[in-house]
Amino acid sequence: MPCDAQNQLLINNQPVTLTEAQMTQSLLQVLREDLGLVGTKEGCASGDCGACTVVAATPGQGPHSLNSCIAPAGSFIGGSVLTVEGVGQPGNPHPVQQAMIECHGAQCGFCTPGFVMSMVAGQIARNGVPCGTLTEASTEISGNLCRCTGYRPILDAALLSAPAPSDQFNWLNTVDSNQTSTDRYLNPSNQDELVDALAHFRSEDRWIIVAGATDAWLEWSQRYQDFAGVLDLSRLAQLQGIERHGQQLAVGAGTSHEALLGFFTKQYPVADIAAVLHRFGSPQVRARGTIGGNIGNASPIADWPPMLLVLDAQLVLLNSQGKTRRVALSDFYLGYRETVRAADEVITQIEFDLPDPQTFRASKISKRTEDDISSVLLACQIVLDKDGAIKTLRLAMGGVAATPVRLQQVEDALVGQPLATLHPNQIEDLCDVLDGQIQPISDVRASAQYRMAMAKSLFAAMLIEAAYPQTREDLHHV
Ligand code: FES
Ligand code: FES
Repeated sequence: MPCDAQNQLLINNQPVTLTEAQMTQSLLQVLREDLGLVGTKEGCASGDCGACTVVAATPGQGPHSLNSCIAPAGSFIGGSVLTVEGVGQPGNPHPVQQAMIECHGAQCGFCTPGFVMSMVAGQIARNGVPCGTLTEASTEISGNLCRCTGYRPILDAALLSAPAPSDQFNWLNTVDSNQTSTDRYLNPSNQDELVDALAHFRSEDRWIIVAGATDAWLEWSQRYQDFAGVLDLSRLAQLQGIERHGQQLAVGAGTSHEALLGFFTKQYPVADIAAVLHRFGSPQVRARGTIGGNIGNASPIADWPPMLLVLDAQLVLLNSQGKTRRVALSDFYLGYRETVRAADEVITQIEFDLPDPQTFRASKISKRTEDDISSVLLACQIVLDKDGAIKTLRLAMGGVAATPVRLQQVEDALVGQPLATLHPNQIEDLCDVLDGQIQPISDVRASAQYRMAMAKSLFAAMLIEAAYPQTREDLHHV
């Protein structure tokens, strides 16, 4: 059943038409408050617990799981959404639901619809096949929290579920790319429409630009910002994709973290980038969040910028006159949440050299290992000469100042040093140089003092690891 009217989407294979006001609310609010689909729960309203997980396909993206609490409903116009009500019926449960019953995977049941939807999303991605390994199962449910059952029975359900018919949710792929913008919800689908939208956006108050919206929509769900309108970049095919030209990479700003995780795991493996991306957020967040959003929102603790500063990334920005300009990432940040991006500009592309997988390093410290924002992140590319002295070094950190920073004074102090014979006292001296170049701030995630201690610790570990690569495993398990 196609969604062929303006402002329409399919929810559980039924056409639903949204008002403009609904388009600028969260998908979760529309599902629960307006449509009475209360199987989808609200726990944290910040993308942390997975209680609100649904599966969706949009004109810009195939079926994926997402947190409906931090997604504007307008993003799904022309697309399709599957909620737990559409998965199975009383007396005819989906194989995943049946497995949850048989494995005793629920006690209070509050988190259960979210877990079911994460597992259903996994089965859809595998053409109906359940998880094959415990690692696969724990990755699949890693964006869902349960406070009372415990994870073992839930993992059992993911592993022991019978296969689902592979064509069961084929209707999810019924998307209509011809849906056009409304006055308050601009969703351009090509560059000309984007340029027009940017001109419109510039003159409006209380408007927001979103792509995946995983960070931006916290303004709505946590700070109760009522947006007058939204410029949504998610259906722009030109903003998506990863192109390799020799050793150069050109990444569309709307490319998801999940797509980049796939690239740095399979096409061009770089263990430390893959490890950071794996811990970037839950599968729900990685599927929607974009590299351009992570750079553009200018958070000092964003995970991509320190890695991209080391790789000397260049940004391409497009404005409301259709003109583009290039800005080095090192010149992009002006201060806390401040950048050189003008109000009528968006980042369209990020270009950088592919890192050397042997010498590129990134280490992240966060309050919990998985699905958490960094407290401190260090990235570096360190090359030694044949005598073991540092030939070139690029070093950057996040979480240690008002913006992500490249640490050039520390680099200068280290280049030429014979790394393998560095005395512990010299490492302490170098930590003092680092101390002079960073000014960590205190916030809810970490105190300035803790961040300083962690920055020095990561830095010392980076030096020891570069000098003695065989210590890498030990250092990563302390
Ligand atoms: Fe917790 Fe959405 S309500 S992730
Ligand atoms: Fe109660 Fe998971 S069953 S929170």
